Amino acid sequence: MKACIAGIGSYVPARVLTNADLERMVATSDEWIRERTGIRERRIAATGEACSDLAVQAGKRALTAAGLAATDLDMILVATCTGDYPLPATACLVQYQLGATKAAACDLSAACCGFVYALSVADAYIKTGMRHVLVIGSEVMSAITDWTDRNTCVLFGDGAGAAVVSASDGERGILSTHLRSDGALCELIMVPGGGSRTPPSEKVIDERLQYIKMKGNETFKVAVRSLEEIARSTLAANHLRVEDIDLYVPHQANIRILKAVMERLSLPIEKVMLNVDRYGNTSAASIPIALDEAVREGRIKDGSLVMLGAFGAGLTWASAVIRW
Ligand code: UT7
Repeated sequence: MKACIAGIGSYVPARVLTNADLERMVATSDEWIRERTGIRERRIAATGEACSDLAVQAGKRALTAAGLAATDLDMILVATCTGDYPLPATACLVQYQLGATKAAACDLSAACCGFVYALSVADAYIKTGMRHVLVIGSEVMSAITDWTDRNTCVLFGDGAGAAVVSASDGERGILSTHLRSDGALCELIMVPGGGSRTPPSEKVIDERLQYIKMKGNETFKVAVRSLEEIARSTLAANHLRVEDIDLYVPHQANIRILKAVMERLSLPIEKVMLNVDRYGNTSAASIPIALDEAVREGRIKDGSLVMLGAFGAGLTWASAVIRW
């Protein structure tokens, strides 16, 4: 028994924030942002539009693509670091909105790796008897972005992507998942305030500790190394060569990180899904949005061999190989 992706969907908010808009907010330039990150624009949730709202839209589209009803779902996993509330889980709000009356629901916190981590959880549950698991990566990064900090505010965007993971006894399915972590590097990307170590207070607000802080340059170097390492070990575990992969779908953090990884792996750009220019870094939503676009553009077809590669706060890094 394998777990396959039976349907995929995504949703991004309507509002587009361009680099020109950011030039009016902080000391930056369109040229700097494009050259250093590859980002041209990103989507920003409307006031009052929360993580579950994006997740529900993406989830509905994935269910339609799979030809299933919400009542068919056994479980909903929402990978996010920007849930509607600290409590309860955003997945429960999604479960109610979708009318998934038979589904268990919980969130998974693994930052930008959240979707791949959640996919591996779904894979394990399918192998032990569940039929349909809805895996969603949904983020409203704009809510934890410090719009006065040019080091981070140019990088992130909002969006959601979802996959229905279903039992399948054919050739297609998730061939393997690989998950890693190194908490020693937790301070490279962090929201320092608002949790149990430093609960919300005036001090948190005054020092802007409720927003994401990142040591970009150090993170960049670890990201390149980690994505290369996990891609190589994933290929080796499946007795595959780089040439066997039809499409590499990486976390869309920075075009320069991805170009460095492509070069190290000798992976031609035609075999890499890139949309960082239009959405920026949408954390856990990044890979499922890219997967959905790749399917809709015909770059992933039935039988395609797809490799995922993610990297983010924790630190965490993760990969998967899927026969589509
Ligand atoms: O989601 C997964 C985790 N995140 C990532 O993988 C992100 C990893 N890091 C990166 O993408 C890059 O490190 C950044 C895009 C964040 C920064 O690029 P960089 O080439 O590493 O630049 P830097 O941090 O070394 O900064 C270079 C200069 C600095 O000025 P000085 O000190 O050299 O005078 C920054 O102050 O660029 C300056 N800078 C900016 N200038 C204009 C930083 N942000 C901006 C900005 N506009 N928005």
